[in-house]
Order: sequence, then C-alpha cells, then structure tokens
Amino acid sequence: MCGIVAYLGKKMAQPILIEGLKRLEYRGYDSAGVALLGCDGIKITKTKGRISALEQILEKPEANAVFGIGHTRWATHGAPNTVNAHPHIDCTGKIAIAHNGIIENYNTLKKWLKNEGIEFITETDSEVIAQMIGYFYAKVIANPDDFGLNGQNKFEWAIQRTLRELHGTFGLAIICSDYPNMLIGARKGSPLILGVGDNEYILASDAAAIVEHTTSAIYLADNEMVTIGSDGFRTTTINNIAVTKDVEPIEFSLEQIELGGFKHHMLKEIFEQPEALGNCMGGRIDKQEHRIKLGGIEKYLRELTRTKRLIFTACGTAFHAGLVGEYLFEQLARIPAETEYASEFRYRNPIIEDGTVVISISQSGETLDTLAAVEEAKERGATVFGVVNVVGSTIARATDAGIYLHAGPEIGVASTKAFTAQVAVLTMLAIELGRRRLISAEMADKYLCELSLIPEKIKKVLEQSDHIREIAKANIEKNNWLFLGRGVNYPVALEGALKLKEISYIHAEGLPAAEMKHGPIALIADGMPAVFIATSGAQYDKIMGNISEVKARGGKVIVVATEGDQQIQKCADHVITIPDTPDLLQPMVAVVPLQLLAYHAAVLRGHDVDKPRNLAKSVTVE
Ligand code: M6R
Repeated sequence: MCGIVAYLGKKMAQPILIEGLKRLEYRGYDSAGVALLGCDGIKITKTKGRISALEQILEKPEANAVFGIGHTRWATHGAPNTVNAHPHIDCTGKIAIAHNGIIENYNTLKKWLKNEGIEFITETDSEVIAQMIGYFYAKVIANPDDFGLNGQNKFEWAIQRTLRELHGTFGLAIICSDYPNMLIGARKGSPLILGVGDNEYILASDAAAIVEHTTSAIYLADNEMVTIGSDGFRTTTINNIAVTKDVEPIEFSLEQIELGGFKHHMLKEIFEQPEALGNCMGGRIDKQEHRIKLGGIEKYLRELTRTKRLIFTACGTAFHAGLVGEYLFEQLARIPAETEYASEFRYRNPIIEDGTVVISISQSGETLDTLAAVEEAKERGATVFGVVNVVGSTIARATDAGIYLHAGPEIGVASTKAFTAQVAVLTMLAIELGRRRLISAEMADKYLCELSLIPEKIKKVLEQSDHIREIAKANIEKNNWLFLGRGVNYPVALEGALKLKEISYIHAEGLPAAEMKHGPIALIADGMPAVFIATSGAQYDKIMGNISEVKARGGKVIVVATEGDQQIQKCADHVITIPDTPDLLQPMVAVVPLQLLAYHAAVLRGHDVDKPRNLAKSVTVE
C-alpha cells in the first residue's frame, strides 16, 4: 500500500532513493519523504503530494550521504499531509523508519509510550514504531547489563524488542544515527526485498525499485529481518534466530517497467496484451499431445482432476477473472465452481469439504484480503493454488502450488493485462482438467488452437483504439453508464464498469443483461450510455432483445460485436468489433475495447490514469 526504498552503498543515496520511489509510486502517492544520514545526523525531508513535489524541495545532499531511506505513502491512519508523511523519527532524533502496513494495536502502544513521557507529533500508526524503538534503545544504552544482550548490538535488540509488541503488518526500513553503516529491514505481512549489488544494497517493497541496480535479491518472509552493513548482510527472525536465505534472480528487466513511448503505463499494458498472453501460454500448449503443461501444479493434477468443487477467491479485477473461471470449469470440466470475494470468504465460516480446492487469483500476490483467504482455506484443510503474476510474492509462497501468469510487471493501478492472463491461465487449466475428465482430444484441440489465436485477435481490437477514443469523446459528458453482458461475458461487463469507475470517476454499473428488466432499466433515459457485449454465440438473440429495450427508452447503445455482424449496425449507436471467437474464449478479447474505452474516457476527462485518486496498486490493508 505504500512504497519503501532504502540504500546503503558507495554512491550518493538521494538520487537512488528518488528514482526508486518513482518506480514504487503506483503503490501510493499522497505524500513522500526521505531520511538521509549525514555529518549532523539524520535529516528528513518530506511533503504532501507526489515524488515530483518532494524532488522540488530537496536540497543538494552531502557528498558522503551514501545511506538513507525513502517512502511513498497511501494514507490509512492520519490525513495525507506533510506531518504524517514518512519517514518518521523518534523523539531523540536518532531512529528513523519507513513503514508499509498497519499497526493494529498502535493506540494501546501510543498510550503506554505517552505515559512514559514520549511526545507524538503525527496521527499515524507508524510513528509508534519509531518512538518505541527509540524508547527501548535509550533504555538499553542507559543500562546494557539489564537486558541480556548476549553480544547483540543495541540497535538490533531495540528493534526486535519493539517488533514483538506489534500487532498487524509491517514492511520496515530502519536507520539509527549511532550506526552510520547499518540498515535494518523487517517484514510481517508486507513485502520486503533486498537487492544485493556489488558493494551496495537496496531494500525495497518491490523489485521495480531494485532492478536498475541489481537483479540478485533475497525475499524476506514473515517475521524475518535483515541487518545490512558495509561488509555484507545477515538474516534472522525477529527473535534473533539465524535464517539462511538464498539470493534469487529478479525475473524482469528495467525495460519492462518503463513506458517505452506510451503515454501511460495502463495504455502500454493494454497494448502489451498480445505479447503478455504469448508469454503466458508459451511452452504450455502441447498440441501434439492435446495437452496443457502447467509445471507449477504438475504433481497436483490427479487431485485437481478429482476435485469435487472449486472455489476461486480474489478481489477486484482478479475476482472478475474468477467469475469467468466459473463458466470455464463448469462447461469444460464439469466441476462445480464458485467465486468469493476474498474479503467475504475469510469471515463467513466457509465450508471446505473433502475434495474442495481453493484457487486464489492475484496480480500482485500481496493483496491482504486474498492472502488472508488463502490462510483461512489452508487452516480448514483445503489444498490452495495460486494464480499469481508477481514471482516470489507472498501469495505465491503461501499457496501449496501455483501457476504464474508470466504477464510481465503491471504498473498501472488499473489492472489490464493481468486480467487477460488470469483468464488465459484458468482457460488452460479448465481445458486440461476437461481433457482428463470428459472432453475428447478433438474438442481439446479445437480449444487449444483457438486459444493460441487469441493474441492475434487482440491485436485487431487494439487497431481500433482511435475509433474507441471517438466513442468515449461522444459520451464524455455522461456521468452514469451501464455495462451489460450475458453468460461468460457478464464478468466482462463487470470488469468494463470497474475500469471506467476507477480511472475516469464516472459512475458505472455492470449487470447480467437479463437482470436489467428487474430494476436497473428504470435508470435508462436521455442518452444514458449502455455498453453491451453482444458477440456471436448462444445468447446473441437474447441480448439483441435487451438492446432493443434500452434503445426504446432513449438509451445510447454502444456494442462490442463480432466482425461482420450486419444486424447490430442497425440498432446500435456505436459498434466496436472483435474477431469471431468461440463463446468461452471471448472474455479475453471482448474486455480489450472496454479497457480502451475507460482509458480514453479518463484521459479526455484529464485524470491521472496511472495514479487514480484514492487508489493504490496493491492493497495490503484490510
Ligand atoms: O493484485 P491483485 O490482483 O490481488 O489486486 C486485486 C485488486 O485490488 C485489483 O484487481 C484492483 O481491483 C484493480 N485496481 C482493478 O483494476
């Protein structure tokens, strides 16, 4: 939810922190700050607003300031203003921290520290961490013999003493002016990665801030901490038990996370979909054997084939991918499937019988609700799989096994290529299980061939970007939109509405088209835009009926239709075409015009597409 970056090495820290924060800005962007260690101790500069605002107020750093921490915030406790921005410092001025996560018991701890005479200056939960470390540090400095240090340094000891008191989640970077060559990181529930370079270290919430400097990293697990010094690093638990960690490669390049000529990450990611799907499906479709090869779950395939019930659990766009999954698994593999919002699943006493398999879907692999649902399902005895994009992310590690999307980094807050890749992964799995359970080799082949054609079909939709922009322009004054689809395109309607809402701030509702007559049709009047996914297939005639109902009531009809459909041209105000595609595979193609529609509407309304208000890319709070 927030982005942390910290540097310890031989170069000037400030430009590295700023560059890293810019790459993490999608995680939160209401305020930002850096703390640098120089000759006069820790110097903090922070401000409300974006990293660009921070850059403007930063002074030239001291030449020897080769050590510091930075933070970009998405506010949870306390208004998004300069005082509440991170880093936070303790009242002695010696300890500074950057925190991602939520400290649930901060009120109790704050009260206790206040009673001990500590004064707080912010409204945040995070300040309590800095103050508490400072408090214990002062105590141990004053009376080291009272605390059984066993050779441990006092700074580390004070941190561990504090972390054990915290309830909630944290990704932390911590420095102390008495230890000018020591950077400490710790995590519980919020990601933290240490980039290991040549005599330099970058600690960050996300590999995007590291990859420019090194592609070697260690991924901290929950309740672990890392102490970095000029002579190397060592990892322990927060109880000071040594832990050995492997240095792993970071699997994406700097080029993949830069804009590459596009105006926004979202647009780039929409246009990357053919390639992303190519990577996602590459090497997995075996037409000769009529099979799909999914290495990550290979040894669970027998269990999956015998599954009695599938539960998808996810949030937002990933939830919509799960809804598409229901249709795929029911139709292709005849496995009962249902999708639950992760945030609801974990609190509803879910029934997990023998033979129930849970599949959690997440682009980031860090969404707290989804992670909690994974843990809940595991506790109740389910085998839990992950369909995740970010390699090595928390959900990828928490699940029993999983399938990576291989869609490449997704930076835009609005999820696009992750959705199509999530649906592609679910489609592959459904075909494979279907083939093992009931469908013929010919039928499997048909789907495999059609699946491999999807990237080319998406390219044809992308060619209509300018046309879609004109449609957005013609309706840009409208503040209420409907998105309607039937069958497997109903989740596509939901996804179209979510995209429009989150980046253009236009109110939109997604509905199964047939439900309209049970209430929402009352809204239709005065050119209200209604976007239909009315592609060829089993429900075509039915949806044509729904289109007439809207038209008759003065609605403006925008249709995503199949190429060559003459009939639709007569009843729609605007038509966007997609190549002919079998019903079950249509979502991956039909969603693309809706992503473009939302993108162009947001740009036309002058919004910051990649950083929509009130949102952040990964939601690591409840
Ligand atoms: O990283 P995840 O896929 O777990 O994220 C889930 C949702 O937060 C995410 O899809 C969100 O709804 C996007 N902003 C939608 O564009």
